[in-house]
Order: sequence, then C-alpha cells, then structure tokens
Amino acid sequence: MSADGKLLELQGLRTYFYSEEGEARAVDGVDYTLMKGETLGVVGESGCGKSVTALSVIGLIPSPPGKVVGGKVWFKGRNLLELSEKEMQEIRGNEISMIFQEPMTALNPVYTIGNQIIETVRLHQGLGKEEARQRAIEMLDLVHIPNPEARIDEYPHQLSGGMRQRVMIAMAMSCDPDLLIADEPTTALDVTVQAQILELIGDLQSRTDMSVLLITHDLGVIAETANHVAVMYAGKVVEYATAVDLFAKPRHPYTIGLFRSLPDFAAPGERLQAIPGIVPSAFRFPSGCRFRTRCPLASEQCAREEPPLVPVEDSGEGHTLACHFPEEALGL
Ligand SMILES: Nc1ncnc2c1ncn2[C@@H]1O[C@H](COP(=O)(O)OP(=O)(O)O)[C@@H](O)[C@H]1O
Ligand SMILES: [Mg+2]
Repeated sequence: MSADGKLLELQGLRTYFYSEEGEARAVDGVDYTLMKGETLGVVGESGCGKSVTALSVIGLIPSPPGKVVGGKVWFKGRNLLELSEKEMQEIRGNEISMIFQEPMTALNPVYTIGNQIIETVRLHQGLGKEEARQRAIEMLDLVHIPNPEARIDEYPHQLSGGMRQRVMIAMAMSCDPDLLIADEPTTALDVTVQAQILELIGDLQSRTDMSVLLITHDLGVIAETANHVAVMYAGKVVEYATAVDLFAKPRHPYTIGLFRSLPDFAAPGERLQAIPGIVPSAFRFPSGCRFRTRCPLASEQCAREEPPLVPVEDSGEGHTLACHFPEEALGL
C-alpha cells in the first residue's frame, strides 16, 4: 500500500479495439483513484468504457481485438501494465477479484455451487477436501445464504438471481482480496434484492478493509455506497469527486444530466429529463469535447478544444472536472 492511502491509481489509461471499421477508442485517457478501504463508484451510460477500464485493470482485455495502448495502472506501488501474464494471474487470484452483472455466465451450470466454491477455496487457501467443504459452508453463511449446509449441494439454476450473486461474491471473497471489482453487480436484480446485495458488499468491506470499485449506470446505487465517484463519458472521466461533493454540487453538464434523469433526485413536480441524443460511437468521437453534441452549454470553443480534467476551484479537495464552462454549468 502506498503511504498516501491510495490502493489503485489510473493515469491516462487507454484501451482500443481494432476492427475493419477502424480503431475504437473505448477507453481513451482515464484517470481515477481508489483509496484503501473505500468504494469508488464509476458511473456513466452504457458504452462509456466503464467495463473496458475495469478489464484493463485486471488484465482481461481480449487481445486481439483489444489492446491497452497507453497509461499506467498503479496498484500497491506496482504498474500492473508492466507485469507478465503469470504475475497478473497471481494478482487476480489473490489480490483483485471481480464479480459481474450476470452470475449465470460465470457459474458452471453442470456443477453444484458447493463444487465451484470448494474449488476456489482449495485453490486459494490450500485446504483439503473436507476442510474446504466446511470453509465453503462458512463462506455461504458469510454472504447470508440461508441453510448453507443444504444449499451447498444445489445447482446454480436452483437458486434465485440474488442468491447466485451471493455465491459469486462468496467465491470472490475466498481469496480475501484487497480490491473487489463489481461490474453492475445488481443490475439484473429487483430493487429489494439490489439493496441487500449492496448492503452485503458494504458489510464485507467493513470487516475486511477491502476496497471496492463499483461500476454502475445508476447514480442511485452510487448514492448508497460510494466514497468517491468517477463519471465517465465517451472513454474518459469527465468529473471526479467525493460522493458528498458530487451530490451536493455536480458540475459537469453530463453529470447534471444524469441526475436530472433520475426520479430520486428530481425536485418534486419537476419532469424527468433524459439527456437528449446518445453516446457517440468509439470509432467516431466528436472533435473537442465529446459531450458537446448533447450539451446545452456547447459553444464553438467546445468543438475546437478538448477540455482537460482539472481541479474545480470552489469545491472540495480532489474535485476535478473536464468542462470549458464550469461557472455556467452551475446555473444549469
Ligand atoms: N470486445 C470488444 N470488441 C470491440 N469493442 C468493444 C469490445 N468490448 C467493448 N467494446 C467497445 O468499447 C466501448 C466501451 O464499452 P464498455 O466498457 O463495455 O462500456 P460500459 O461498460 O460503460 O457500458 C463500447 O463502444 C464497446 O462497443
Ligand atoms: Mg459495462
């Protein structure tokens, strides 16, 4: 761990995909920091590069067609982009775990959940068969699966979506990771179960001091859990702040647009406003500011110059913003 409390720091990360259509700049200069023991929420519409960023961190970009073409990923003092595949496998098995939106794709349907957890437990903790089974039951208990002694012998399809996600979390926790990457972990679940899963992650986090990178398109989820927030748009971070600062005073027109499209944050009686237009294709970003084609403040300068991510003067420490019109944005 670095002395300044940072667990993970991305600097100018760029990951591109290559096809006949050309070069897709899926991740194109991402900077964000995750502090030890904290949760960093990464938010943005679908297609903004949130998942590709996470997969770049853990070295799982399919290559070809993808390639990490630039930047640095600092994790506990090492730049992960410089490690060998073998070293990355060690990190993935022991220090960084990841859970995904749809547990059914990660669980093997032909094995019982017990078999799958026991396998990861044996791998990570070097236990014998009987001990590993006991440990697996404890893990199921840890993620609040009722009656774990019986459930351990069930198959994935016998469990509800929420229970399957709990199994995935148990497997991810079996190596006692420093970092849990959760990519839309509750998107496929109904609202009540969503809340339970988020609570479970928070609970595990407080017991173990692990950090969580929580990826979601839902600012409501961020509100419940994040210490810091990175807002991504078109392959970049456009705003980064503590959750407190971001919710009190969002400054990027895109962030403000995301808030306006949420029922929980609109003023009473105010109509919900979806952001007009769609996320541009990673093959063809607009010149200058990539949000300008959808932005109410867009000017000629926005078409000419790409705004850099720089500190916001009149906000909390560490609040950064990529917009040419930070003052005007306040009036939106
Ligand atoms: N395997 C792939 N091959 C080609 N393009 C990809 C691949 N995976 C992702 N992309 C592209 O990268 C961009 C960002 O995708 P992604 O990170 O999945 O977005 P998000 O997670 O924010 O919804 C999208 O334009 C997507 O089409
Ligand atoms: Mg995604």
